[in-house]
Amino acid sequence: MAQIRPGVRHLLRHDVTNIEAYPAPEPLEEFARSLGVDPRDVLKLDQNENPYGCSPLVREALASFAWYHVYPDPLHRALRDRLGRYVGVDPDQIVVGNGSDELIELVLRMCVEPGDRVISAGPTFGYYATAAQAVGAQYELVPRGPHFEIDPDLLAAKIDARTKVLFLASPNNPTGNATPSAIIRRVLDMDVLVVVDEAYFEFHGQSAVELLKAGAQNLIVLRTFSKWAGLAGLRLGYGIFPEDLLPIALSLKPPYSVSQAAEVAGIASLDDLDYLRSNVERILTERQRLADGLAGTGFLVPYPSDANFILCEVVGRSAADVQARLAQRAILVRRYDSPRLENCLRISIGRPDQTDRLLATLREIA
Ligand SMILES: Cc1ncc(COP(=O)(O)O)c(C=O)c1O
Repeated sequence: MAQIRPGVRHLLRHDVTNIEAYPAPEPLEEFARSLGVDPRDVLKLDQNENPYGCSPLVREALASFAWYHVYPDPLHRALRDRLGRYVGVDPDQIVVGNGSDELIELVLRMCVEPGDRVISAGPTFGYYATAAQAVGAQYELVPRGPHFEIDPDLLAAKIDARTKVLFLASPNNPTGNATPSAIIRRVLDMDVLVVVDEAYFEFHGQSAVELLKAGAQNLIVLRTFSKWAGLAGLRLGYGIFPEDLLPIALSLKPPYSVSQAAEVAGIASLDDLDYLRSNVERILTERQRLADGLAGTGFLVPYPSDANFILCEVVGRSAADVQARLAQRAILVRRYDSPRLENCLRISIGRPDQTDRLLATLREIA
């Protein structure tokens, strides 16, 4: 990071340069330009986006919407109403956000005072660290077990009077496994606000919302339209909160952070559930074929997945080398090199033709 000049340094928070920035991938167009290929020929399997894109109803609704010059409803009543029906809860339990990233931040702003602690079970989604540190929290990870399972006793041992929030992604990114609801129930007995991040819910189907309906007070469930509904670029997420926490969440949320376009797209997606669910089914079928194909390469060992991506260990060669060779052939995958995920790649599930291209390329570079 560049040296901060003395004229401004004393005006910044003392710890602001220590925050772990969320890694920003290279823009698709630039990557394509550097290889001299059309961006449409890049096989983008690095960010768990939906290979089928959004619903055609979204494109129609966005094209015909007449009110882009008007601010959105800050309470997003129309969308929250539709989401209430989709999730099966009162719309007064729902907050929408500019992606679930905004809601991760919102929950932290609701709970954390500088010096408080935020925990999760790692390896997990990297933005929890950035967002926790951004509000002045100490962020700590409890290690997951050999199959990336959570040990509730280890979590309990970490919780002290200053621990406010526990993030549990289920299914977890990047490991792909969901957390059984019995474990979530145990965690809810602990004195901490439990945020179950269900960004990949539609690929697995098991939800903690039932526990909220049963009256859990210290539970928030987060979801997103980025993955199953193909709206990653429009930024739309939502949270399901206990009713008494909702007014606080709404009072802290920037009023217009969710655009008219995102709201229109969210409602049009909910109008086209059969279409979107059929794409989810196709992704699930492809998940098995991709897992078998990866295992068949002889140098990739896939972990089981409950989501729309597969984490694999690279054996007998370097993951960085495999990633670089794929990139030379216009295929993007995500690489990890933390101690627990040393030499691992995470590969998003694409369409059948994309799986064919990936597997053929892996055979070629084997
Ligand atoms: C576990 C998890 N939570 C949240 C997000 C962020 O989703 P959004 O696009 O809604 O901000 C992601 C994105 O990859 C994720 O993997």
